[in-house]
Amino acid sequence: MVLKVLVFLVLVLVSAVVVESQQPTFNDDVLGLIFFKAGLKDPTAKLQSWSADDNDPCNWMGVKCDPTTYRVTELHLDGLSLSGHVGRGLLRLPFLQVLSLSKNNLTGTINSELSRIGSLQVIDLSGNNLSGSIPDDFFTQCGSLRSISFARNNLTGELPASLSSCSTLVAVNFSSNQISGQLPSGIWYLRSLQSLDMSGNLLEGEIPEGIGNLYDLRRIKLGNNRFSGRLPGDIGSCSHLKSVDFSDNYLYGSLPDSMRKLGSCSSISLGGNSLRGQVPDWIGELTSLESLDLSANNFSGKVPSSLGNLQLLRELNLSMNQFTGALPESMANCYNLLAIDVSQNLLTGNVPSWMFKMGVQGALISGNKLMGNVESPSLASTVPSYQGLRMLDLSSNALSGEIPSNLGVLSSLLFFNMSRNHLFGSIPASIGELKATQVIDLSHNLLNGSIPSEIGGAVSLKELRLQRNFLSGKIPTQIVKCSSLTILILSRNNLSGSIPTAISNLSNLQYVDLSLNDFTGSLPKELANLSQLMFFNISHNHLHGELPLGGFFNTIPTSSVLGNPSLCGSVVNRSCPAVHPKPIVLNPNSSDSIGGSSPNHHRKKIVLSISALIAIGAAAFIVIGVVAITVLNIHVHSSMSRAPAALTLSGGEDFSCSPNNDPNYGKLVMFSGDADFVAGAHALLNKDCEIGRGGFGVVYRTILRDGRSVAIKKLTVSSLIKSQDEFEREVKRLGKIRHHNLVALEGYYWTPSLQLLIYEFVSNDSLYKHLHEPDRSCPSWRQRFNIILGMAKGLAYLHRMNVIHYNLKSTNVLIDCSGEPKVGDFGLARLLPTLDRCVLSSKIQSALGYMAPEFACKTVKITEKSDVYGFGVLVLEVITGKKPVEYMEDDVVVLCEMVRGALEDGKVEECVDGRLRSNFPTEEAVPVIKLGLICASQVPSNRPDMEEVVNILELIQCPSEGQEELE
Ligand SMILES: *[C@@H]1O[C@H](CO)[C@@H](O)[C@H](O)[C@H]1NC(C)=O
Ligand SMILES: *[C@@H]1O[C@H](CO)[C@@H](O)[C@H](O)[C@H]1NC(C)=O
Ligand SMILES: *[C@@H]1O[C@H](CO)[C@@H](O)[C@H](O)[C@H]1NC(C)=O
Ligand SMILES: *[C@@H]1O[C@H](CO)[C@@H](O)[C@H](O)[C@H]1NC(C)=O
Repeated sequence: MVLKVLVFLVLVLVSAVVVESQQPTFNDDVLGLIFFKAGLKDPTAKLQSWSADDNDPCNWMGVKCDPTTYRVTELHLDGLSLSGHVGRGLLRLPFLQVLSLSKNNLTGTINSELSRIGSLQVIDLSGNNLSGSIPDDFFTQCGSLRSISFARNNLTGELPASLSSCSTLVAVNFSSNQISGQLPSGIWYLRSLQSLDMSGNLLEGEIPEGIGNLYDLRRIKLGNNRFSGRLPGDIGSCSHLKSVDFSDNYLYGSLPDSMRKLGSCSSISLGGNSLRGQVPDWIGELTSLESLDLSANNFSGKVPSSLGNLQLLRELNLSMNQFTGALPESMANCYNLLAIDVSQNLLTGNVPSWMFKMGVQGALISGNKLMGNVESPSLASTVPSYQGLRMLDLSSNALSGEIPSNLGVLSSLLFFNMSRNHLFGSIPASIGELKATQVIDLSHNLLNGSIPSEIGGAVSLKELRLQRNFLSGKIPTQIVKCSSLTILILSRNNLSGSIPTAISNLSNLQYVDLSLNDFTGSLPKELANLSQLMFFNISHNHLHGELPLGGFFNTIPTSSVLGNPSLCGSVVNRSCPAVHPKPIVLNPNSSDSIGGSSPNHHRKKIVLSISALIAIGAAAFIVIGVVAITVLNIHVHSSMSRAPAALTLSGGEDFSCSPNNDPNYGKLVMFSGDADFVAGAHALLNKDCEIGRGGFGVVYRTILRDGRSVAIKKLTVSSLIKSQDEFEREVKRLGKIRHHNLVALEGYYWTPSLQLLIYEFVSNDSLYKHLHEPDRSCPSWRQRFNIILGMAKGLAYLHRMNVIHYNLKSTNVLIDCSGEPKVGDFGLARLLPTLDRCVLSSKIQSALGYMAPEFACKTVKITEKSDVYGFGVLVLEVITGKKPVEYMEDDVVVLCEMVRGALEDGKVEECVDGRLRSNFPTEEAVPVIKLGLICASQVPSNRPDMEEVVNILELIQCPSEGQEELE
């Protein structure tokens, strides 16, 4: 295209030289226009008709020619989405009079040659994106320029002084730019000026003297600048003025007296300055006034009754001043008044009844000192004029009385605000006749009674504000008919009953405040469906039950639910009664209370809630619900919890490998190596040597004569232990189990009253301590993975040997000095006379959260799969660094549930221990977490067996990071 244009231009220039005057139809205009077009971008191809092959531009889009000379005189290309620059091609249009390029997207600066185009009279470049300043010499040779508009661009810099010399100018519009500096002092020499619009710039300084010279001035708009000083004192000499706008500047002083001569003026806008003094009575002489805005100044005194002479007045804004007294009754003569805003003054008196007799559409009287009864302007008597009322704001006055009962006459009312008065009585049923009303605000009054069910008739309602009254009763379910309702504020009343489910059908609700009432019942779950909700405050009521789940309620701030003691859910840090499946959760403090219980309370009841857990398949999850609540009787044998005070383990030969039949000495069996204790029996009773305590006994450390450390577990379940034969058979079986990842049982000691198990000593503390003790350096990802894999291998081996661990937990997994995990304490449940689950549960109740649900379900057999459950929980514990069950003040966080929730929400990576600081491979972490969740499946058959787990883990392990493990 550009190439074609260039070729064309070259041809034109050549031919122009060669054939000159023999081709009269072929003129400079085509060249100029094509040249101009070449500088534009025309994304919507509006200038398609502008073809270089066409010698007659007069039919081109937006082009007008002189009918006799066929020369281009006008260019109207407004609003065509053109961008690019205003090119110099226009200089080749010597007969152009009107250049109108408004509302495009033209950029670049203003070319000072533009004003030199021979006959240009009108330039309209408004509504573009021109930048830079207006060139200083733009107006020096302005020819016949009459009207210029650069309004709504991005012009900066100061006004050129040359502006004052362009005496042909009639209209200048530089509004809405960022022009700074002062008005040129000679500006009022522009004797022909009829319209000057400099509003919305950054102009400052005083308005120069001499405006009175402009006899023809009709419109002056200097609003929204930074002008200071006083209003021009001679403005009254501009006797043709129709519109004056000096609003939003820093002007001070009073209204100049000469203004009384502005008898033709229809609009005066002086709002947002610092003007003061009284509004003079002569204001009533400006009988052409249709709009008077004196708002946001410091005017004081009474509103002059001469305003009543302004019979054409349509809009009156006196708001935000210090007017006192009552509005003059004479204003009843302003028949044409449509909008009156006198809010935020010091006006007194009653609600002016004249206001409602003359068809006013907007009456804003808020923030004054009006008193008296709102019933007094009897609505009934003035029905016809009321029907036009669209906005009524009487808020923040001192009005009293009841809300008129015939609100129905306000059939066009859109906005109704009577808040912050002293209104009493109840809300009339006729509120439902406000069919057009979008906002009803009756807050901060003394209203009582209930919200009428007729409110459902207010079908256009978007905002209902009734807070801080004495309203009682229920929220009427009919409110559901107000389907546009967006804001509902009913706080600080005495409303009661439950929150109607119907509210959850108000799908536009964004802001709901029901706080500080007496609402009861539970919150409808369906509230979670309110997708627009941004605020929902139900604090300080008597609500109970669970907070809705999902949607806004996942992130509802605590402050919005406070003060409802029976409300539950994670936001209020209070767990809900076991409506939802939970894994086994026992009270961890129960054993403490056992010791202190009186003889009459030997049996302590503990509620076990067992939950349905969700099996997570490789990609999907399947929900299997099993809910059971079991009461466990915990046998308390206080005698049992204490070991015999005196042990008679003394003398080397007593610890021989041979059976000793003396019941006082008992029998020590070591499966291998030396059996001599260096420190002897002494160590067994020495508290300093105690290294742990578990459900089955206390563990001490001692050193054998050969220098080996061993851990000795003193069983505290003596009376439950089987006969010596059975005990020995079981222990020997366990003694055969030797695996790198299992704590080896080295031997045992038996007397009827004391049994000891002698284990390999593992130096480096339990997994529990590695994970949960505060000042430890936490294990790295690789270490954690190895721990999981090692545990899995140990358990897989255990299961191959047909031993069920029964008591998996992180305190039972020891870490040796090379970081290798060793699972200990396995198989001890078999030492109990019977696998009584109650006893079992009580013995291993410290394994909270690790216990498979079938422990409480008598019909399900305990198998290896119960260990897999515990392993699954351990996996999650290792990965998250969190305990399987964490007790908050009055809530319980169950690890499995938390992780499962996170997986459902697609943010399972966030569960990984924060101490790892993202220093872990997601491609390993996520599958390991999923594996943990599968292992912790509710239903045993959904859990893999440990062999499979080992295989899966080895697959998961990143090949590059993998390392060969010894089996
Ligand atoms: C104006 O132009 C700018 C950049 O050239 C572009 O991003 C913007 O969308 C245009 N606006 C209009 C209204 O065409
Ligand atoms: C105006 O032009 C400037 C570049 O001069 C550009 O960054 C901006 O987006 C434009 N504005 C509009 C509204 O097109
Ligand atoms: C004004 O111009 C500046 C600088 O070119 C640009 O960043 C800004 O977007 C423009 N403003 C408008 C409203 O186009
Ligand atoms: C100045 O131009 C703007 C934008 O085109 C327009 O809205 C405004 O009415 C004009 N001012 C006068 C006094 O005509």
